[in-house]
Amino acid sequence: MSSDDMKKRAAEAALEYIEDNVVLGVGTGTTVNYFIDALSRIKHRLDGVVSSSEATTQRLKAHRIPVLDLNAVGPLPLYVDGADEANRQLQLIKGGGGALTREKIVAAASDRFVCIADRSKLVDILGKFPLPVEVIPMARSHVGRELLKRGGQPVLRENCITDNGNLILDIYNLQIREPAKWEMELNNIAGIVAVGLFALRPADVLLLGTPDGVRVAHAG
Ligand code: 5RP
Repeated sequence: MSSDDMKKRAAEAALEYIEDNVVLGVGTGTTVNYFIDALSRIKHRLDGVVSSSEATTQRLKAHRIPVLDLNAVGPLPLYVDGADEANRQLQLIKGGGGALTREKIVAAASDRFVCIADRSKLVDILGKFPLPVEVIPMARSHVGRELLKRGGQPVLRENCITDNGNLILDIYNLQIREPAKWEMELNNIAGIVAVGLFALRPADVLLLGTPDGVRVAHAG
């Protein structure tokens, strides 16, 4: 079975978590795209969606699913998003698609975070996937030096300007054994807007698509 088929399985399984007449938070990426396509079948049951990126907004609008401003709707019952890596505590690396800052905001504003992924995303230790950080352009060199001091190898993502007008540095060579500590440490570097570690606010449920079906993991 292809990884796309496994992503699709996880995406379809997330529909079970949606109650009637709610506003839903929706992430970004290829797995989420399958989720949005599936969501269009039950859009009549939704009050609307808060989107985490321009790309997701476009896809939602193409399906005529109403997109709402987070400021207008307050806390959300549910956020559904993918991940680049997940550990067994359901702490994540995200931001492969460059949408980490808005994803973090919508996740923080949601009561429950259901993460959807194919089985290749499950790891013992986070960090093989280079950790994305969103950086204010004038701080690029400063942030790069601070990351080098901490043992990371920052690489500027080519041809990438985020939806917020910022840059992405991808940090290679990290073995993130204490994700929450790393998240707090990197959050404190001036010029970093958001870190692609979701450890302080991990997922609550992980739906992993596998050839044998969907494996469900819960946090804690
Ligand atoms: C985007 C993300 C995505 O959730 C992550 O990159 C996984 O993407 P995909 O579902 O395409 O594998 O964090 O910023």
